[in-house]
Amino acid sequence: MGVFGTALKLIFLGITLLVTVMLIRTLTFPSQQPNVGKCSPEDADFIKLTDEMTKHFQEAIRIKTIAWSNTDIMLSGILDMHTLLERGKFLDKLLKVCCLSNDSVQSMVIPEVCSKLIKKEVINTYSLLYTVDGSDPSLTPYMLTAHMDVVPVDQQVWDVPPFEGRIVDGFLYGRGTIDNKNSVMGIMEALEFRLKSGNLPIRSFFIGLGFDEEVAGYQGAGEISKALAARGVRLEFLLDEGSTILKGAFRGIESPIALVSVAEKGAVTLNITVEAIATGHSSMPGKESNLGLLSKALARLEANPHPSMFGRGPEKGLMEAIASEAVFPLKFVLTNLWFFGPVVSWIMSMKPSTNALIRTTTAVTMVSGGTKINVLAPLGWGIVNHRIHPTQSIEEVVNYDKMLVGDERVNLTRYAVWDIDPSPTSPYGDDVYGYQVVARSQQQVFPDAIIAPSVMIGNTDTKFYWNMTDQIYRFCPTLMVQSDLARFHGLNERMSLKNIQATVNFYYHVMANADSKEVFSKHAHTDEL
Ligand SMILES: *[C@@H]1O[C@H](CO)[C@@H](O)[C@H](O)[C@H]1NC(C)=O
Ligand SMILES: *[C@@H]1O[C@H](CO)[C@@H](O)[C@H](O)[C@H]1NC(C)=O
Ligand SMILES: *[C@@H]1O[C@H](CO)[C@@H](O)[C@H](O)[C@H]1NC(C)=O
Ligand SMILES: *[C@@H]1O[C@H](CO)[C@@H](O)[C@H](O)[C@H]1NC(C)=O
Repeated sequence: MGVFGTALKLIFLGITLLVTVMLIRTLTFPSQQPNVGKCSPEDADFIKLTDEMTKHFQEAIRIKTIAWSNTDIMLSGILDMHTLLERGKFLDKLLKVCCLSNDSVQSMVIPEVCSKLIKKEVINTYSLLYTVDGSDPSLTPYMLTAHMDVVPVDQQVWDVPPFEGRIVDGFLYGRGTIDNKNSVMGIMEALEFRLKSGNLPIRSFFIGLGFDEEVAGYQGAGEISKALAARGVRLEFLLDEGSTILKGAFRGIESPIALVSVAEKGAVTLNITVEAIATGHSSMPGKESNLGLLSKALARLEANPHPSMFGRGPEKGLMEAIASEAVFPLKFVLTNLWFFGPVVSWIMSMKPSTNALIRTTTAVTMVSGGTKINVLAPLGWGIVNHRIHPTQSIEEVVNYDKMLVGDERVNLTRYAVWDIDPSPTSPYGDDVYGYQVVARSQQQVFPDAIIAPSVMIGNTDTKFYWNMTDQIYRFCPTLMVQSDLARFHGLNERMSLKNIQATVNFYYHVMANADSKEVFSKHAHTDEL
């Protein structure tokens, strides 16, 4: 034994102590889930999906609002969406009167209030901006946003045609069902229900419906934000389309996870060009060629991922939110990230979907070069598309790439189109008003889901509102499994009728919860009425 034995004992003691501390942490780790009552179909304010509402959603899907590029959008379809939202046939007469005219006022529940309550404006011909006046002007307004345009379907052959609004086995199929006519219609149906209930808003809010989100949003949300900025509008919080409720995203977590995105990754695209080597006949090549240098550079970029930022961005909040709801041994790991962080980061790197959360990703998307089979290419170029982690910037990413390539003869030129720095990260947690409104509303509608902050991999219209509030959230209350994610911009986009009903109820609760003055009020479902 002797010295060696004593050392062993000490090590053993140390490990025991460490494990004990970690276990205590695991057992005492607080849940971060808001504790609110569930919304049940028996409640007076539960919105049951009626045939009429379903018809409205179907009609919205039938209207083609495809955006191919910022100069090629089906604008007549956008105008048809305006009509759909206003025509008494679809949305209730109440909204028609509120927004359009004062005739048939006598048939309304709350005529005078209503016509003063909602102001509808058409911004830049195609966007809609509704201002709903609350009774307490001392409260800072909030904003709900969505977009009416959809991405093309191109050559794809769907199981169910994409613009027929057909319902098959409880699912409404069609382009726009999850991106983003669900939000457009959900918000408007919820608003209508709210007004009809005679329960008028206390906090004012805006509804902004853009028409070119899929092609960068400058003419739509860009102009809406300018109009609001010119009026000096500040927002308490903003809720836009975004991440969804995912089931089976993490092994060891049974419950679905409602991912509320508090940040958006940035993007930078580089055109890697090489033209350093003189062209000539392929019979007498030099030791290097433009295409060889280009290939090496691209291979190096792909083989060397940008560093993991795990623990520095919102992905840490995500882990903490699910930690208390996980089972052993995952729970032990997630409640002790101070120790297991590097392991978790390594595991997340394995799967593309989780890898994208923890680092700036690198994708080689195009390559071109050469003119003839027996001529050395005068120029080779390739495109590298990065999605930037919220804790990094475009500049850092480009510098890191230059360092990786390490060859002066290889030019890294910014392609510039679509480049955007990551969004600021919005606050989240118990004491953050906007986050809690979203979290509570979500929990009232989907009590089984764990609410967690997340990072949006794609981009939304929210970039236009960064100056108006630091509380920006991106979320759609759509329950999905991992394989459904391919339906975004993909084949067989669809939404279950159950999800449609939940969407309407979710936005209704957002409107109800946002009437609360303070974040800490124990706002149970039943107090809303
Ligand atoms: C509706 O009536 C109110 C009050 O009479 C009036 O101020 C408002 O301008 C009218 N709205 C429209 C769209 O005519
Ligand atoms: C990349 O740069 C080269 C050289 O300037 C150019 O020919 C090529 O079109 C660029 N690629 C793209 C996608 O713009
Ligand atoms: C690459 O960089 C060199 C030196 O800076 C420059 O002369 C050349 O025009 C660049 N080529 C491209 C395609 O940008
Ligand atoms: C936000 O404010 C900054 C600084 O005043 C300005 O440069 C930027 O254009 C504004 N962004 C938007 C979307 O209005």
